Amino acid sequence: MTEDRSGREIIKMNGIEKVYKTGEVSFKALSSVDLIIQKGEYVAIIGPSGAGKSTLMNIIGCLDKPTKGEYILDGMDTNCSDNLLAEIRNKKIGFIFQNYNLLPKSNILENVELPLLYLGYTQKRARKRAEHAIEKVGLKSHIKHRPCELSGGQMQRVAIARALVTGPQIILADEPTGALDSKAGEEVLEMLSDLNNEGNTIIMITHDSKIASRAKRMITIMDGMIKSDLSNGVKS
Ligand SMILES: Nc1ncnc2c1ncn2[C@@H]1O[C@H](COP(=O)(O)OP(=O)(O)O)[C@@H](O)[C@H]1O
Ligand SMILES: [Mg+2]
Repeated sequence: MTEDRSGREIIKMNGIEKVYKTGEVSFKALSSVDLIIQKGEYVAIIGPSGAGKSTLMNIIGCLDKPTKGEYILDGMDTNCSDNLLAEIRNKKIGFIFQNYNLLPKSNILENVELPLLYLGYTQKRARKRAEHAIEKVGLKSHIKHRPCELSGGQMQRVAIARALVTGPQIILADEPTGALDSKAGEEVLEMLSDLNNEGNTIIMITHDSKIASRAKRMITIMDGMIKSDLSNGVKS
């Protein structure tokens, strides 16, 4: 796909800090995070357990707000009402989770349609788009199956279809291969690379440096701070 990738900032974070308060105790999970991600990038965020990866992912994905700092997502200030933030999230972000997060009682088609129905699509338009997304991940023949009738790799492909179906600005994947065997994990990683080659912006969270090396840029976080930022192995 010939997509314009020339320097459009999709994510711009300035001095992001996140403090969790539990009763009297405060804990700073992120401090002084400055981060710019351009449209079309494929970024891995890596770090040991407790480093702050999920905290950062929740903020990037508009699931949570920072306690300090500025986060501009696709030109929009995310320091807004919770309702508006939810709307921004639904429109701009596709999520892929380690445990797929599919609705067990709904079939594949219904699972993939759901984000479109939230966005106000008619059933007919939602169905058409969902079918297209399911076809794209190679599961057209399983459209009426329920998640429990699929393998882990197939379930993650459904989750990818669901993430893609709204045409999001960013695909946010949290340990997307964490629950898969190596063959199914490889298929998912190849699919993410293909999606990036088509122009999609991908941010993947992982604790595994081998998986992270599939991305074009690797950001290491430790103790809530960015420790290194490498593009194709070169420090930026
Ligand atoms: N809701 C919360 N309340 C209090 N502390 C939290 C909360 N979520 C995370 N933390 C703390 O913040 C730090 C970073 O957590 P997290 O972002 O989940 O790390 P990672 O995903 O890298 O393992 C950890 O020390 C964790 O205990
Ligand atoms: Mg985590």
